[in-house]
Amino acid sequence: MDLDLKDKIAIVGGASQGIGYGIAHLLAAEGARVAITARRERDLERAAEAIRAETGAEVLPIAADCRRAEDCTRVTDTVAGSLGGIDILVNNDGAPPLGEIATFDDAAWAKAVEQNLMYVVRMARGALPHLAKRGGGSILNITAISAIQPIPGFALSVATWSAVIGFAKTLSLEVAKLNVNVNTVCPGYIETKRLEKVFAAGGQDPNRMRDKLRAEVPMGRIGTVADIASLVALLVSPRGRYITGTAVQVDGGLLRAVR
Ligand SMILES: NC(=O)c1ccc[n+]([C@@H]2O[C@H](COP(=O)([O-])OP(=O)(O)OC[C@H]3O[C@@H](n4cnc5c(N)ncnc54)[C@H](OP(=O)(O)O)[C@@H]3O)[C@@H](O)[C@H]2O)c1
Repeated sequence: MDLDLKDKIAIVGGASQGIGYGIAHLLAAEGARVAITARRERDLERAAEAIRAETGAEVLPIAADCRRAEDCTRVTDTVAGSLGGIDILVNNDGAPPLGEIATFDDAAWAKAVEQNLMYVVRMARGALPHLAKRGGGSILNITAISAIQPIPGFALSVATWSAVIGFAKTLSLEVAKLNVNVNTVCPGYIETKRLEKVFAAGGQDPNRMRDKLRAEVPMGRIGTVADIASLVALLVSPRGRYITGTAVQVDGGLLRAVR
């Protein structure tokens, strides 16, 4: 199926590695022109170069910290100015620290809200007029399965990403008339550098941890960035436009619930 992504203009956050990189790479391979963001400029340039070399697509790297309001505005303004508009916004970044609720003060909570919730709010606010100008488009947020099946020690992410799902659902109702769909993808365990970091934070042997996670997942394997990217590509393409207001898990069957 041709996803009809040729020449669409996309912004993908947190795309110097991991899930964001995989999404940006697939959209570029499908013919989109892609702006990618992350904080570390050198890694971002390297990622842009790799995507260009492997797909032949136009890739615009913009170094930005998603916790800063001024960076969010700069990203949407730069993409609209340099690439001529915005059709697709994929919000994805890092995540707040892990730890039990008793260990976090108000400052830690405020930071988590900036990083996970306000980032998505600000990017959507900046991109929407441009999506509307082009007759419609897509907004997609990456959260985590923990937003719908909470895990002890992940409270900063769970609370803020649940809020993102509520925000996205509300926004989807408000912008449907603009032909804009808004969805959230909730990954389960996905093989990236972040997973390594989570293992290291727990002080456990990565091989044993991988075995433990595989045993938890009904499909018996840890997911790949390609597993996430293929759903995202459909949801942000014109082919997926009628799908809106959803929060979809991509988790090999990890979620134990009827929704
Ligand atoms: N991997 C998993 O198993 C898994 C499962 C569920 C959910 N998720 C969530 O999915 C998202 C992506 O995960 P991942 O595994 O791909 O992580 P990753 O490999 O650590 O990549 C994170 C990306 O986000 C960028 N980033 C981090 N903080 C940022 C900030 N403040 N502003 C702008 N960019 C920032 C990083 O670059 P810089 O550091 O240079 O900014 C990097 O490009 C995270 O929110 C993660 O919690 C991951």
